[in-house]
Amino acid sequence: MLDVPTVPSPPVTPQPPAEAVAPLMRGLDVLRCLTDAAEHAGDAGGTLALAELARATGLARSTVDRICATLAHLGFVRLDGRDAALAPPLMAVANACLDALRVPGLLGPLADELADELDESVSLAVPDGADIRFVHQVLRRRALSISFRVGDALPEGGCAPGLVFRDGLSVAVDDQLVEPGLVAVAVPVRGPDGSVVCAVSVVSHTSRHAAGELAGAVRGPLEACVRSMESVLATSSYASGLGPGPRASNAGGADIGRAPIESLARGLRVLTAFDAAHPALTLSEVAEATGLARATARRALITYDHLGYVTRDNHTYRLTPRVLALGCAPLSRTTLPRIAAPHLAALSKRLGESVGLSVPDGDRVRCTARVTPRRVMSVDIGVGSRLPAKDTAAGRLLRDGGERAVADGPEAGLRSVAVPVRDRAGVLVSALDVTAHQGRGDDDTWARALRETAALIAADLHVTSRFVSVPVH
Ligand code: PHB
Repeated sequence: MLDVPTVPSPPVTPQPPAEAVAPLMRGLDVLRCLTDAAEHAGDAGGTLALAELARATGLARSTVDRICATLAHLGFVRLDGRDAALAPPLMAVANACLDALRVPGLLGPLADELADELDESVSLAVPDGADIRFVHQVLRRRALSISFRVGDALPEGGCAPGLVFRDGLSVAVDDQLVEPGLVAVAVPVRGPDGSVVCAVSVVSHTSRHAAGELAGAVRGPLEACVRSMESVLATSSYASGLGPGPRASNAGGADIGRAPIESLARGLRVLTAFDAAHPALTLSEVAEATGLARATARRALITYDHLGYVTRDNHTYRLTPRVLALGCAPLSRTTLPRIAAPHLAALSKRLGESVGLSVPDGDRVRCTARVTPRRVMSVDIGVGSRLPAKDTAAGRLLRDGGERAVADGPEAGLRSVAVPVRDRAGVLVSALDVTAHQGRGDDDTWARALRETAALIAADLHVTSRFVSVPVH
């Protein structure tokens, strides 16, 4: 477990407006609790027993069950017996927020360049009430045991970007405020109207830089980076306060028809109406984008405004960075094998055979995830094992490309079939295989099932990796 100073969830304000949607408030509470549980677990696990979730939220167990059934129906939560866990499709909510904030999309590439130039970690943070929230992270940490991820929050007074926002500093230094050994320098990035849009931080370690000399050591490249960032903000569509262009189509909301709690399912739909092209929306625009009745959209917006997830300025609404408290940080700490795990379990159960994921490793392939039914004794390919590429279907697929590969092997009497898993850019990153005794199934049936599962894994990978990098092993 990571010993990271955690920000307590903001307490739900006792007096919600009369129009606030109670089931939506409860659903958001459940998502925040699951996020906090995952953060404390220090990985993307974040599994919480439904009974514990009831205790943590103060809701009745039957209420928690219905909320989780609704969230599972939307794909946002995975239910496994009596346990609930955040699921990758929830990242669509964080993506809407990161997209609509504009900062990661517009300034992230410049932060990446700065990290390359300095060979240090660089992050972008925005103010979020009395906290700061990270919206971009380039990690180059060596000696540090902690790493914040996109969506993580820190108290304003306890980190360099917070001091920039709170005290209006033009340079702030974090001399091991967050953890012994960690030093950081943060500077503001201003929008065309002169207001501070975000802070860019360079994060290092006392073994490389003393706090007192870090600011001086990185000053030139950091100042040049801020100048470039400010010119991007001044010349992009950010300056007009409008998004870059017309809406492609936001009609692809999850089917909420049979959701156990429709008011929760409908309310959540409002968050993904926002994007880079539509960072600010009127009530009518939200209703139009979501297909919700105006009265429904209005009550959802009132609920979000009350809880601090949206701000209202005259007639337009914007998402706040608090939306990132709904799963973003734990979901962005994941890896491809973790994303794949529930899909592999389902496929193994369906086929009754051993299924797995592999990545290239020199002239071999390395198994990164495997689910084997107990009775299949002789298919013994452990996670981490390396096999010659030519001996397995996964190896051949990774070596030769294509849509399907087969092999007799890796041992006599075994047959394997593999299909590709591709990243957002369409690059082949992993192979999904079934390996079983010859004659137990036919290649076409297996290939069809593999392709269906590969599509589910890829969809989860693509939604997760839009703003963060997801290791493939
Ligand atoms: C970071 O992890 O990006 C970070 C940590 C502490 C700071 C600033 C940035 O003060």
